[in-house]
Amino acid sequence: SATTAPRHFLDLRDFSPETIRQIIDLSAKVKAMQNGRRQPLHPDRPLEGRTLGLILAQPSTRTRVSFEVGMGQLGGSVSVLSPGDMQLGRGETVADTARVLSRFLDVIVLRTGNDANLRELAQWSSVPVINGLTPVSHPIQILADVLTFEEHRGPIRGKTLAWIGDGNNVATSLMEGAALLGFNVRLATPEEFAPNPDAVAWARAHGATIEVFRDPAEAVAGADAVLTDTWVSMGDKDRETRLKVFQPYQVDTALMAKAAPDALFLHCLPAHIGEEVTPEVFEGPASVVFDEAENRLHTQKGLLLWALGKENS
Ligand code: CP
Ligand code: NVA
Repeated sequence: SATTAPRHFLDLRDFSPETIRQIIDLSAKVKAMQNGRRQPLHPDRPLEGRTLGLILAQPSTRTRVSFEVGMGQLGGSVSVLSPGDMQLGRGETVADTARVLSRFLDVIVLRTGNDANLRELAQWSSVPVINGLTPVSHPIQILADVLTFEEHRGPIRGKTLAWIGDGNNVATSLMEGAALLGFNVRLATPEEFAPNPDAVAWARAHGATIEVFRDPAEAVAGADAVLTDTWVSMGDKDRETRLKVFQPYQVDTALMAKAAPDALFLHCLPAHIGEEVTPEVFEGPASVVFDEAENRLHTQKGLLLWALGKENS
């Protein structure tokens, strides 16, 4: 059979709105079909005999467990790899690693502190490569965020999401998601941690309304959801400076009160309570953070089915 390009999932911007919508809808369908966690095994085991390689160069709780559990529920299996235990850690190249793993595995997820490694792995891999987070972007997180928002509030198109704090990897993917799914993003960040200008420009050029503020109150005004993330991402070295600079960006009850009356609070987790969010907001009625975490499992499953060409399962 003719070789077709593997269905990599590197960044949201690589996709048509239709494909991203298809993956989210597929995730919702599989979630409903499998009745949450009560009937977790997919009756058709659509990924039986398929193996996912999960290469984690950095820590992970949600990404790791959701891929491991999700793959199992779809009938497949998982090999978790850490670069330190691989010859990669002794200098085997990414290109050679990609070509070897492509002979064993059906799909690869990579979490890395070096975005270029992800791109190189995908370039050399003949099986789908999924971005499991880099310092540049975290696209799989946004699939779960959108599913969560829509479960609570209906279609996200035309809604306004406020991002407060660091203009980081998750913020970049959120802006790309906005362009594809038709929601608006209002970000408030300190000047030195502004959102990636390339991502802002790309999202705007692709039809998104992206507004960038310094003042969190301006960004949240009337917003349908308020999102934040850690002030110190993996690989960030300047923790002390960051804690100081981000202090005015804490999401507290007073800030939430400036959003729409039914605004949701989302956080990709892990959270640092008392830093980017107060305990009142994190544990409060607007918070859907654990639904959001659970939806990592369902969106991972939708994504795996799509990547492996089983989107009709
Ligand atoms: N949100 C997220 O990606 O969590 P982990 O770092 O635990 O995978
Ligand atoms: N921005 C955070 C997200 C963790 C899931 C980080 O990169 O560490």
